[in-house]
Amino acid sequence: MSKEDLIQGLNEDLAAEWGTVIRYTYQAGKSFGVLGVELREMFKEEIQDELGHAAFLTDVIIDLGGEPTTMPKEFTKSEGLKAMLELDLEMEQQDVENYTKHAQMAGDLGLIELQMKLEEMAADEAGHGRELRRIVKGL
Ligand SMILES: [Fe+2]
Ligand SMILES: [Fe+2]
Repeated sequence: MSKEDLIQGLNEDLAAEWGTVIRYTYQAGKSFGVLGVELREMFKEEIQDELGHAAFLTDVIIDLGGEPTTMPKEFTKSEGLKAMLELDLEMEQQDVENYTKHAQMAGDLGLIELQMKLEEMAADEAGHGRELRRIVKGL
């Protein structure tokens, strides 16, 4: 495992973040009714978190000597609210796994501050997952 492997991993995380920003923006537009009002609020807040993650990853990748991606990871446009939120939950859980894995890699390379920050981001995504799980439970 090298610094290049870590840069590649962080670029995959960055593509996922850009994808999430677009997915949540799109889904907010597709959220209707009384529940839609609450969902739009939640998406709005989470988009800010994901933008913060994307900005951090961009800076870190440059600092490590890499070139940050500006291409979002593609996502499926799910039909219906439940399928949409279940997809979001799955993606957030994937993000937790990836950040945890890359935090470990950063630690192995002696990049302790980066390790801690990536662990914190894993915790942010776990929090997003928890909120989504509560909503999906009520559908
Ligand atoms: Fe994120
Ligand atoms: Fe998230």
